[in-house]
Amino acid sequence: MYRTHTCGELRMDNIGQSVTLAGWVQKVRNLGAMTFVDLRDRYGITQLVVTEHAEASLRDTAAHLGREFVIQATGTVIERASKNPKMETGDIEVELTALRILNQAATPPFTIEDNSDGGDEIRMKYRYLDLRRNPLKNALMLRHRMAIEIRNYLSGHGFLEIETPYLIRSTPEGARDFVVPSRMNPGEFYALPQSPQTFKQLLMVAGYDRYFQIVRCFRDEDLRADRQPEFTQIDCEMSFVEQEDVLATFEGLAKQMFDRILGIKFTEAFPRMPYNEAMEKYGSDKPDIRFGMTFNDLTASVKGHGFVVFDSAEYVGAIVAPGCASYTRKQLDALTDFVKRPQIGAKGLIYVRCEEGGGFKSSVDKFYTPDDLQGWATACAAKPGDLILILAGGKKQTLTALGELRLEMGNRLGLRDPKHFAPLWVVDFPLLEWDEESGRFFAMHHPFTSPKPEDIPLMDSDPGRVRANAYDFVVNGVEVGGGSIRIHDSQLQQKMFETLGFTAAQAEAQFGFLMNAFRYGAPPHGGIAFGFDRWCALFGGADSIRDYIAFPKNNSGRDVMIDAPSPIDQAQLDELSIVLGTNAQEKN
Ligand code: AMO
Repeated sequence: MYRTHTCGELRMDNIGQSVTLAGWVQKVRNLGAMTFVDLRDRYGITQLVVTEHAEASLRDTAAHLGREFVIQATGTVIERASKNPKMETGDIEVELTALRILNQAATPPFTIEDNSDGGDEIRMKYRYLDLRRNPLKNALMLRHRMAIEIRNYLSGHGFLEIETPYLIRSTPEGARDFVVPSRMNPGEFYALPQSPQTFKQLLMVAGYDRYFQIVRCFRDEDLRADRQPEFTQIDCEMSFVEQEDVLATFEGLAKQMFDRILGIKFTEAFPRMPYNEAMEKYGSDKPDIRFGMTFNDLTASVKGHGFVVFDSAEYVGAIVAPGCASYTRKQLDALTDFVKRPQIGAKGLIYVRCEEGGGFKSSVDKFYTPDDLQGWATACAAKPGDLILILAGGKKQTLTALGELRLEMGNRLGLRDPKHFAPLWVVDFPLLEWDEESGRFFAMHHPFTSPKPEDIPLMDSDPGRVRANAYDFVVNGVEVGGGSIRIHDSQLQQKMFETLGFTAAQAEAQFGFLMNAFRYGAPPHGGIAFGFDRWCALFGGADSIRDYIAFPKNNSGRDVMIDAPSPIDQAQLDELSIVLGTNAQEKN
């Protein structure tokens, strides 16, 4: 047996016991004749001490230990002279009688401390060292606890965990697929699933009633802090349900997770917000409702004063930043620069300071009288001391830009406390989204999402206005999950494909298997998928999902530790009947 206890285990109760520990050397301090060693394993850190009374060889070994050496240490648990209340094992130390080096370690490229001095790239390259640090260890332990809770809840509610294939067929909808060449079928490719969507629907056709899977999904899209090319979904599907049944089941899951993992009890139902309201009030389909600062539509009241920016705008919207009338020129310039960033795309920012003593100071004083400005302040419910921030332009872009500005002001004013959670359901999404570039409709969620029955007649006359039975679970501005009630009628599904511009032959080639299955008795069904990495990061209080994934990719989709992706041998290419284009040849 290598050890009798872990490094996180020993307390005052163990005093006098002879113990053996094993782990990594966190730190060595030589204080004259005494040597102190901090020994670390997954469970914690225990202080070892080698006194002047120890054998000379033991003292010598201890004095020459290096960081991250793997050792086995035997000794007696004693009470510490100077206790460390910050350490769980801080009341005791182990006075060593034997010490064995199990493995030496090269000097790590960064120190394994909570606040590491390693840069991002170096930490990713030596991920196994980074994973020894407490913040990452805690993140992965949180992920584990969450996975267990999810499995328990879903299993307790009759959901069966069923695996679905990773080598599937490429489909043109959604994000770009990752593809895998087939050696046995030259010139043909599998795709890795963006989600198990069609398979879970087929499991409903097969009668499995309630399915779930904690499953890897693959999407070749531009990466951000909350997006990885391979990520994990908690994928769920239920039969004989309507939207309310799905929301109730998964609101139950979310509440149980908040309670069991964070100790937060939500006794009320989560709020529901229609998509249109989310866009008009928050400029986002994933509103952060931890704070107000909702939008005020000033379009009608600002026109006709000779200010061309407002006169030519489709939409003029304002938010009120409480207590910010004292913002300096410099602060206002910084906000203007913020909204003008290409990702946000506003042309400029108009402000109105509501002075403490009454009166207004604005960047459009030339065009508007104090009475006009008073009218805006009243419309926005702005008080003396507040700052009104206004954006104008095309409606969609301006709403989105104002949404970004709102979040920025929320950050500046400290209104986005990561320990405060504000969950909601966003409902009534449009079924379709018009794409200017390709001049066609796309499914806003996916092509299997059911329209609201009362809106089906609009599919011919005004497809853009059809609402879907689709919903997102949003917490603190993060889209944690999304799902829908599905179309279970092959004719309606065919109509949906037509609306999306598929010819009958294309629909048959891509999704014939699903429409065919629907001919053999498909139950009404619906489901949801949660982004598990995002949910973990949210509960852990982090913006980035990276540290909740043991071996993530960097922002260019690379695994810098194993150096993937990488070129493959000519022999492998030949076997796969693949000839590289000139770009790829030059690169390799
Ligand atoms: P959707 O595409 O909305 O729905 O995905 C569900 C959830 O997965 C998370 N997510 C991601 N997380 C990390 N990195 C990514 N690249 C990434 N992309 C998505 C989000 C999102 O809410 N089949 C449907 C679900 C259904 O209809 O049941 C689907 O995949 O948190």
